[in-house]
Amino acid sequence: QENKLYRILVSDSMSNEGLAPLLESNTTECVLKNVKEADDLDSYDALLVRSGTTVTEEVMDQMPQLKIIARAGVGVDNIDIDAATKRGIVVINAPDGNTISTAEHTFAMMISLARKIPQANASIKGGEWNRKAFQGTELRGKTLGIIGFGRIGSELSKRARGFEMSLIVFDPFLTKERAEELGVQTGDLDEVLSQADIITVHTPLTKDTKGMLGMENIKKTKKGVFLINCARGGIVDEEALKHYLENGHVGGAALDVYEEEPANENELLAFDNVVATPHIAASTKEAQLNVASQVSEEVLQFLQGMPALNS
Ligand code: MLT
Repeated sequence: QENKLYRILVSDSMSNEGLAPLLESNTTECVLKNVKEADDLDSYDALLVRSGTTVTEEVMDQMPQLKIIARAGVGVDNIDIDAATKRGIVVINAPDGNTISTAEHTFAMMISLARKIPQANASIKGGEWNRKAFQGTELRGKTLGIIGFGRIGSELSKRARGFEMSLIVFDPFLTKERAEELGVQTGDLDEVLSQADIITVHTPLTKDTKGMLGMENIKKTKKGVFLINCARGGIVDEEALKHYLENGHVGGAALDVYEEEPANENELLAFDNVVATPHIAASTKEAQLNVASQVSEEVLQFLQGMPALNS
């Protein structure tokens, strides 16, 4: 029986160990090269990406052999799903491989905000010894508002309980039964906005969530609120956030994701009370191994004729 050799383009950097199923299979050939640099796009059967590659209709037009696009991560907002569907290309992701890493990073960002750790770190390393400037707030007894209560939101809630925080959750897809089972208090968006001391978003970026924390909604929050976005740039409207940081309504923000990435020119970075990281919530050894191996195994199975699970 003829053994077809499938060509796989790995466009963003990924865990090599995670890619092992594809690297070691004698039915696949992996090429590690960015889509933008590849001049042989027409020869690939599968494309693996993280968030660094935008898979547009134009890219797909150059890849007539393409059968499957795999996102080694959760958010598929960098892939034109409609264009893929039109061409019969399957899109898969790794929905749970980086849940814990992202929940932990969000928690780290929350503590960083509350205790001004990045600012204090920069200060002492800059030769200062300024104990007054870095008085913080405790998390205990504060209300954490979680918008989007999927895998990451619910892992975060477990950690918040350990810190004796109160929780209020908004998620239109969360049933009452499931909320009771998880023991969380739910509210509508306005209730979360008006009751929470700290608000964190854990939704995908869709037309419904884009700009969800914008001029109108941020106005409904408590004065001094902390806002956290470790989900997707654009869920928190950056112009609005800037406005409310400038007038002091928002007490601080922690951002891992931005409307435009890389975000080196982002004006929000200039605020003292903005804690920022460069889209690294999922960047742990564990998460990167998980997501790369999850999509590698699925791509291999799909090319061998099995159905795609996480499509
Ligand atoms: C994701 O959607 O999984 C994260 O943003 C992580 C990544 O971009 O790799």
